[in-house]
Amino acid sequence: MSAFAEVLRAWKPRLETWLDEVLPKESTEPTRLHEAMRYSVFGGGKRLRGVLVVLAAQVFDAAPEVAREPACAVELVHTYSLMHDDLPCMDDDDLRRGRPTAHKVYGEALALLAGDALLTRGLALLGEARRAEAIGAMLRELGLAAGSVGMVGGQVLDLESEGRPIDRDAHALLRRIHLGKTAAMIRASAALGALVGGADANSVAALRTFGEHVGLAFQIADDVLDETGTAAELGKTPGKDRDQGKLTYVAALGLEGARLAAREEAERAIAALKPLRAGSTDLLAQLARFAVERTS
Ligand code: IPE
Ligand code: IPE
Ligand code: MG
Ligand code: MG
Ligand code: MG
Repeated sequence: MSAFAEVLRAWKPRLETWLDEVLPKESTEPTRLHEAMRYSVFGGGKRLRGVLVVLAAQVFDAAPEVAREPACAVELVHTYSLMHDDLPCMDDDDLRRGRPTAHKVYGEALALLAGDALLTRGLALLGEARRAEAIGAMLRELGLAAGSVGMVGGQVLDLESEGRPIDRDAHALLRRIHLGKTAAMIRASAALGALVGGADANSVAALRTFGEHVGLAFQIADDVLDETGTAAELGKTPGKDRDQGKLTYVAALGLEGARLAAREEAERAIAALKPLRAGSTDLLAQLARFAVERTS
């Protein structure tokens, strides 16, 4: 296991305690809705985005608790995006985080609405963040990253590109899809950590660039794992991208080409950390390499 996998594993229980605290209990009405929200949030998950918020805040000497609200916010918004991504009208997946998808267990209407509720809970959480002067900037960062010029926009391009031939234009489109559907949220996670840590504008910008390249590396690796991973490792059904004719880095560049592209993005991410205080970003550099080397 890479050293960073160990770091993630160590943070996971802390993140999950926070997530438990910020979500309504299953006994809260409507109980089935809150059950569905919790089912999806707690069914596994690496918590990479939440840990990224904490580690980015630490670069500016912020204690982990300071990052609690934005760390939970990105994980809740991310989980909502997975619930909707898995719906029959989107990728139509039966398995997520090693368990049947939410719509298989709770039905489509509740999977849709539980996703909506996770999105809005996530945004509301930012309003409770401990660095009050950063709340406005954080709301804007996450709201834009999750929306039509970020994750949702990327998801639309992803769906529109199914079955598309791989011609010259496909490569630029592919980058836009990955920047939108995945890199926007990972960029926002890095920026939120910086903002809640009290970083100056230049440092926030450096972390945004870092996060964007990590996000590209992460999604290219996701494309590779869809081709090479097993259901047991991934907790989701592999081989779906090929079946659905998705425009992926593997389809465009082949497995080796995609692996190389992912490593290049990780190195770009690490280069973006240069302006920050030496020694303060070692874990972030490890996270960037983990995004590529991971097996789940
Ligand atoms: C899966 O994200 C969806 C992508 C954007 C590739 P993760 O691989 O981070 O999923 P969890 O949170 O660990 O389940
Ligand atoms: C995920 O892309 C993007 C979002 C959920 C926003 P994928 O469709 O490739 O993710 P997986 O492979 O289903 O996790
Ligand atoms: Mg998808
Ligand atoms: Mg999918
Ligand atoms: Mg995928």
